[in-house]
Amino acid sequence: MGADERPLREPDKLGDLDDRDERPMREPDKLGDLDDRDERPLREPDKLGDLDDRDERPIRDLDAEMVRYYAARAGEYDDWYLRRGRYSHGPVNDGVWRADLEATAAWLDRLPCRGQIVELAAGTGWWSAALAAKGSLSLYDAAPEPLEHARARLAQAGRHAEFAVRDAWTEPDRRVDGLFTGFWLSHVGRDRLEEFFALVARWLAPGGLFAFVDSRQDPESGASDHRPPEADVQVRRLADGSSFQVRKVYYEPDELLAALARTGFVEARVETTSRFFVLGSARRGRA
Ligand SMILES: C[S@@+](CC[C@H](N)C(=O)[O-])C[C@H]1O[C@@H](n2cnc3c(N)ncnc32)[C@H](O)[C@@H]1O
Repeated sequence: MGADERPLREPDKLGDLDDRDERPMREPDKLGDLDDRDERPLREPDKLGDLDDRDERPIRDLDAEMVRYYAARAGEYDDWYLRRGRYSHGPVNDGVWRADLEATAAWLDRLPCRGQIVELAAGTGWWSAALAAKGSLSLYDAAPEPLEHARARLAQAGRHAEFAVRDAWTEPDRRVDGLFTGFWLSHVGRDRLEEFFALVARWLAPGGLFAFVDSRQDPESGASDHRPPEADVQVRRLADGSSFQVRKVYYEPDELLAALARTGFVEARVETTSRFFVLGSARRGRA
């Protein structure tokens, strides 16, 4: 096995528990506002290897398109973490990527977070088993397809969580002790960042912890046939060549810190890994 193929250790480092969650996940027909996600035909797949990533369609509804994109990408999403196929950028870059993922997993392990924990836009649950080791995890995403992968991942890790299809913008139905988002803030538009932080604050009990990991801009972060976002919108391709438009905003640590302060968070810390990720945590103020 070459260096590039070394299996990456997933972030859950703790021992085996067998409290698997056998409950059925909410059915896709409960998607509510997202029901129109399949109405628009995708752009026809272009030939793979054709690097023309222009997408001339007018942007209609980026929020709905992002859900369609991640639903369609669910089976290949982890290729990004694992640097497989179009996501591999050679042994040096991929080695740094792995080291940054390890650093992020170690950071997550150290987070002082327990009790009731919510993970929004949880996707395939890359970070979820580690969160479920810390407390009682509720794991939400707007698309059921990635959640099925998360369900399998948690079962494999012997971890329990509650799963539901739920839009990240849905108003909280309770107060929790911790809230985590992975690679979600970069899908929140600049005009809505503080609105989202205010929503997180409403999720949290006073003193509750908000933590997030997200992307730093780097040419070797995404797929080799992706170009950088223009005006915070990026064209993404799947392995079959189909293309989608997603919002992708690379927030600087200072911008995040300022927005957290303006929305009443305290003890905010935002740091970066050596190259690829930004890691942040803050507590909801007690006022
Ligand atoms: C970049 S992925 C992140 C997945 C996971 N958190 C991780 O760290 O790997 C973004 C996720 O956001 C989900 N998503 C997109 N729009 C959403 C919305 N409005 N509400 C909740 N989830 C949404 C997608 O389905 C996808 O799983």
